[in-house]
Amino acid sequence: MKWITQGDGKNSVISVSSLSTNEWVDIFIKNNFTVTYPSEDHSIEESDFFEELEKGAFGVISMLSWKWDKAAIKKLSLAGVKILCNYAVGVNNIDLEAARMEGIQVGNTPDVLTQATAELAMTLTNACARKVTMGDSYVRNGKFHGWAPDLMLGMELQGKTLGIIGPGRIGTSFAVKMAAAYSMNCCYFARSEPHSLISEFKILNKWNELRGTTPLECKKSNSVIDLIKTCDVISIFVSLNKETNHLIGRDELSSMRKNSIIINVSRGQVINEKELVKHLQKRVDVTAGLDVYEREPVLENMLKELPNAVLLPHLGSATREARRNMEIITSLNIINFKKGFPQWTGNSIMPFITNQDLPYVPSILTF
Ligand code: DGY
Repeated sequence: MKWITQGDGKNSVISVSSLSTNEWVDIFIKNNFTVTYPSEDHSIEESDFFEELEKGAFGVISMLSWKWDKAAIKKLSLAGVKILCNYAVGVNNIDLEAARMEGIQVGNTPDVLTQATAELAMTLTNACARKVTMGDSYVRNGKFHGWAPDLMLGMELQGKTLGIIGPGRIGTSFAVKMAAAYSMNCCYFARSEPHSLISEFKILNKWNELRGTTPLECKKSNSVIDLIKTCDVISIFVSLNKETNHLIGRDELSSMRKNSIIINVSRGQVINEKELVKHLQKRVDVTAGLDVYEREPVLENMLKELPNAVLLPHLGSATREARRNMEIITSLNIINFKKGFPQWTGNSIMPFITNQDLPYVPSILTF
């Protein structure tokens, strides 16, 4: 048996994967839904999903690894699906226009994963700066024969310059944490003025004033290349779209400063991975910290062999806290849309975590 079905509510929801807790199932059941999700594996074959969907469903929960193109959206529509909710903030796997055309709403889970993803970007930055993974394999492989003055020298982050490409919620949170921890100046590249980043730096500088330390800068870069040329740590937080696909290619990479670090926790396609591998092979002084890949889960040939790359398996939101909260938001998106509630207009959707009875839909992008 491939599927588990729980509850006997009059509305139904089907998830393409089991999730990290069971709380979401209880929320649906309490709200008159029947819930169906795969029994064993986390994911399920597409053909099995569409076979199960023939029974009909009001809502579908999707993972970011599932591609929803025009044809797949059409199948949802034919099955009577009214809302597709991604268990992620990024929705680059969904053709939003096709969903709009079919009258299917698309939901996502912003905000609740901001801290988790910003903390992971910090983890990657520290790991790159201090050669953590390289040191770990060195010890495990029995190569550590004693302290040495020049063993695995890294870069001190204190007082260095941090570049943020796409200072949205996650980029801003990362920048503020890094600036507070390491007194890092910041450069950003953004399509619109990052008000929150700018005001957070003003607050940090009030604190610096009280401590009698030099104020930190938060400056706009006019191009990605300008930012790369002036930063010691380059971090990427943009969402993936036609403009950001391969935003970082050969020219951008070759502009990296000596000993600099590049971090990507957004989407793999933002960096041309072939060019990145060539660059890391040639420039052993630079380090890349990657949580995402161009053809996930497949990695560009030779990437795994590079000691100057720190590689994680797309763990951005992988904390117990974030995943539980993503499950609550996913469920409330579908349930509250069914109830006909209006869209929440507050800046943060965290209030839904403490009060699951708020009469609003937390986050639908197609309203
Ligand atoms: C997202 O939610 O888009 C993240 O990539 C998850 O880690």
